[in-house]
Amino acid sequence: MKSAPKTFAVKSFGCQMNVYDGERMAELMAEQGLAPADAAEADLVVLNTCHIREKATEKVYSDIGRLRKREDGSQPMIAIAGCVAQAEGEEIVRRAKVDVVVGPQAYHNLPQLVADAAAGKPALDTDMPVASKFGVLPARRKVGPSAFLTVQEGCDKFCTYCVVPYTRGAEVSRPFAAIVDEAKALVDAGAREITLLGQNVNAWADEDGGLDHLIRALDRIPGLARIRYTTSHPNDMTQGLIDAHADVESLMPFLHLPVQSGNDRVLKAMNRSHSRSSYLRILDRVRAARPDIALSGDFIVGFPGETDTEFEETLSLVDEVGYAQAFSFKYSPRPGTPAATMPGQIEPHVMDERLQRLQAALNRDQAAFNAASVGKTCAVLIERAGRHPGQMLGKSPWLQSVHLDSDAAIGDLIAVEIVQAGPNSLGGVARLRTAA
Ligand code: SAH
Ligand code: SF4
Ligand code: F3S
Repeated sequence: MKSAPKTFAVKSFGCQMNVYDGERMAELMAEQGLAPADAAEADLVVLNTCHIREKATEKVYSDIGRLRKREDGSQPMIAIAGCVAQAEGEEIVRRAKVDVVVGPQAYHNLPQLVADAAAGKPALDTDMPVASKFGVLPARRKVGPSAFLTVQEGCDKFCTYCVVPYTRGAEVSRPFAAIVDEAKALVDAGAREITLLGQNVNAWADEDGGLDHLIRALDRIPGLARIRYTTSHPNDMTQGLIDAHADVESLMPFLHLPVQSGNDRVLKAMNRSHSRSSYLRILDRVRAARPDIALSGDFIVGFPGETDTEFEETLSLVDEVGYAQAFSFKYSPRPGTPAATMPGQIEPHVMDERLQRLQAALNRDQAAFNAASVGKTCAVLIERAGRHPGQMLGKSPWLQSVHLDSDAAIGDLIAVEIVQAGPNSLGGVARLRTAA
């Protein structure tokens, strides 16, 4: 039996929604009077986990092992949250004897679970209650200039490789008023940019409209300079949302729209319900609305049965689109998903080779996109101090990292001329300080 913890640490892995959940859990524990501490010393360590690929899941067990071997011999209370908790809750308790297991829809119960564990009672909650956790979470605290706000959760798409529909449950949209209130609270707490989050964020809807109607309402919040959203599904890319890119000034010219593969047979086997050409047509419409939009995507190489010729079509799609940035992964078979038992599982060395070729093409395009920024003057939101004295780091409208020497403060939005481009970041020179 462990005594009630006085200090805590939350470590989040995986997607931005986990980062958001981790922040909310930290606020919850702080409200209970626990003080934040380093994970190497905290009485309670929450590992907020990701189940998306096998490597991510295995990491949980190695992290638990490390927490058990602290130099000073102390043993923290260990809580497993996030998608591995949801998918493998009882197995983790059995295999790693952790103190608390809490799923992504139940973490508002963390204080009770921690109290139960301290009293030596079993503490596992992976329910997906109808009443949302959001209603009982404490108010937002101080945040940085760029903040996350989860507006939609879950997924009904059931791509055949993916665990998210099982770990996060069905698609649910948070109520409009609750989102607007939270956005205002974030702005009061220091945010100048808000990224709306959802596993399928553009599936957000209420009786009055879709995500564009929410974005237009947030655009009217004084002090909120930038709005972003991620991750979108091609099938939920409505004309209304595309139009918002043309006329909502605070909506940044960036779209992350995963495609996974450029081949129609593979897309069908993935149950993606869009084709290569329907995806490309959406991008045409987005570019017509916002010609300078930066595009981003997700790719999977080595889906079961993917032939060399089919993989070549992913490369040709990349050539055709010209992504500003992208994420690419080797297919990882996940327990319980249909693709895990499909015939034609691809050999690791073939996946390695395909990933290398894909990443070379994506890196080439990212470098070209960055190089094309040189000479432009754009607004940069200053997010933090850089490594060198006097250096500040921020983001361009197209989500590029920009470093510059400036006396600007964190949270300032300043005009910067881009003078230098690298593969992953830009260098700039401050021009005019815009009114804050
Ligand atoms: N809802 C989003 C993203 C979900 S997960 C979407 O549909 O795009 C983020 C990315 O992880 C996916 O886009 C996909 O590229 C990748 N991914 C998901 N499951 C995977 C698996 N089993 N193996 C490898 N990559 C996977
Ligand atoms: Fe997973 Fe597909 Fe849902 Fe994205 S849309 S979360 S890849 S099932
Ligand atoms: Fe990972 Fe769950 Fe996000 S599986 S990617 S943490 S939704």
